[in-house]
Amino acid sequence: MSLSDHILMVREFAEGHLVGENRNDYHIRLKLDHSMRVLDNGLAIIEGEGINGRTAQLATMAALYHDIGRFPQFARYGTFKDAESINHGRMGVLTLRSLDLPDGFTEHEWRLIRAAVGLHNAKTVNPGLKGPLSSMVNVARDADKVDIFGVILDHLSQPGTPDRVVILQLEKHPTRYSRAVLDAVMSGGSCDYSMLRYDKDFLILMAGWLFSLAYGTSARLLLDRGLVERTFGMLPKNDEITDLKEKVLTHLQAATSARH
Ligand SMILES: [Fe+2]
Repeated sequence: MSLSDHILMVREFAEGHLVGENRNDYHIRLKLDHSMRVLDNGLAIIEGEGINGRTAQLATMAALYHDIGRFPQFARYGTFKDAESINHGRMGVLTLRSLDLPDGFTEHEWRLIRAAVGLHNAKTVNPGLKGPLSSMVNVARDADKVDIFGVILDHLSQPGTPDRVVILQLEKHPTRYSRAVLDAVMSGGSCDYSMLRYDKDFLILMAGWLFSLAYGTSARLLLDRGLVERTFGMLPKNDEITDLKEKVLTHLQAATSARH
């Protein structure tokens, strides 16, 4: 397997969706850059967790190709909102089936890669997944979450109006957040994008992801990059947000100190 061939594949496929129009091309580049950073995060997680051999190669592919469906999604629908277009994980599976991909993996292995791409954005994943697919899905999901923290925090901290496609058309408000989102995250319940109303809700949703990271290395990456502190720094300072922060930090401390 030559990783550089696969990187070139993704780059050329993405760049094939550039049309010379600013808004379109900005969003295509955003997802291309995201894909490359998720690849880097995936490699860091694979190394930190001691994942090796063929499983490491397959998990690398899952991270690199996880958002391949985003390019045709934006081309067809002009949005990254799955609810208003198509499930982009599913779109990724269809895209991979239609591409002439570099050699080096068997048909069975491509089936695993497609399965991981299809599951990377599932609300929940069956904890009983076995074998390489389990590592592939976990690496892709964690690597994706680690990058989304940076993307969202950067967008929300920019002065002026944030890009409404990136923050999914949420209302920007200095202090407001939704009770249902905070309650869902505090109780360990599920919370998805359809529940979000304010930009702060996105930060609370991301804080909730910290409880569902598969790997201690992913928690370590987020802490070391200051992304957890930044997330809470952008939320209002009150008792319930402080409770959430304490709960998150306690969880992350346990996650990063547990050795496998
Ligand atoms: Fe995705």
